[in-house]
Amino acid sequence: MILAFDTSCDDTSVACFVDSNNYSNIVSSQNEIHKKYGGIMPEMAARKHIENISYLTKEALDKIGVGLSDVDIVATTVGPGLLPSLLVGVSFAKGLAYANRKKILPINHIEGHLFAPFFDKKLTFPFMALIVSGGHTHLFLVKGIGRYELVGKTLDDAVGEAFDKVARILDIGYPGGPVIDKLSKTGNPNRFNIPMGLDKKKTLDFSFSGTKTFVKNLVNKHPNLSKTDIYDIAASFQKSSIDILWKKSLKACEEYNVDVLAVSGGVSANSYLRESFLNKSIKSGIKLLLPSKEMTTDNALMIAFVAHLKEEFATFDYNAVEANPRLKFY
Ligand code: KG4
Ligand code: ZN
Repeated sequence: MILAFDTSCDDTSVACFVDSNNYSNIVSSQNEIHKKYGGIMPEMAARKHIENISYLTKEALDKIGVGLSDVDIVATTVGPGLLPSLLVGVSFAKGLAYANRKKILPINHIEGHLFAPFFDKKLTFPFMALIVSGGHTHLFLVKGIGRYELVGKTLDDAVGEAFDKVARILDIGYPGGPVIDKLSKTGNPNRFNIPMGLDKKKTLDFSFSGTKTFVKNLVNKHPNLSKTDIYDIAASFQKSSIDILWKKSLKACEEYNVDVLAVSGGVSANSYLRESFLNKSIKSGIKLLLPSKEMTTDNALMIAFVAHLKEEFATFDYNAVEANPRLKFY
């Protein structure tokens, strides 16, 4: 059994994994705390992780009726992320593993997202992975576990970051992704022709800063926007940014001759993404894999799942496990 922690950013998460039918995944969101600042306050996030992590661990164990003695491996996200936040999960995991003589396994947060779509599915290689979160918009050709080739990435903002910034410009709430997703349902996605970054270029890279600036200029020029205007801008922005994700993902699959696309990260929770990617993948003969909603945004179950895939690397070398906010993935 694997006990896993993720405190890379603002959510505290603890998971237990026995197999894909027997697991727990507890996520304590801090959105309410950071909402009033319009972004994450790292020191505050870390303090909340400290308050929560112990009882969330008990909750995760209790939920599937196991105790610490049943744990074989303790896994923890070691990076990338916010240093104060990472330190809490890493220190707690190390302390727990050491005190209970359990093996420990450090996990890269991005690798957690990458394999989340395969949680209850058969893992086959190669596949194209699109990781879309608050910090990443990356396309990887995945040839095996630990064999990742970067084929495209954002040159500026990550797509989730663009959602968050556009929501701030429109003053509609935090975090921006879920709010834009919700408001877009009543908006007209075809009213504004919002440019897609690097659309006409051959590259598989992305750019979202122009999209965000376009919205900013629109709002500056029209200070008295009605509710309908705002919903239409939200829906048009969402369509533009999600459509370019699909275009580049399909191009990547074609260029590298793979027919499986696995999409993950917070933005893969987006309802327009899930619906449009599914329709377009069927038409294009691509097998699309999406994580369950609970495994799209940050959670420890995805960390436990990677630990399960890499369990032969677990050791008793606690000193080798250290938080690294800029941990490399490729
Ligand atoms: O993977 P994640 O939880 O954390 C990072 O590792 O970054 O992703 C968070 C990002 C945020 O930018 C958030 O606005 C976005 O995912 N997000 C969404 C949705 N839910 C979360 N973006 C669009 N639509 C959503 N429904
Ligand atoms: Zn994440």
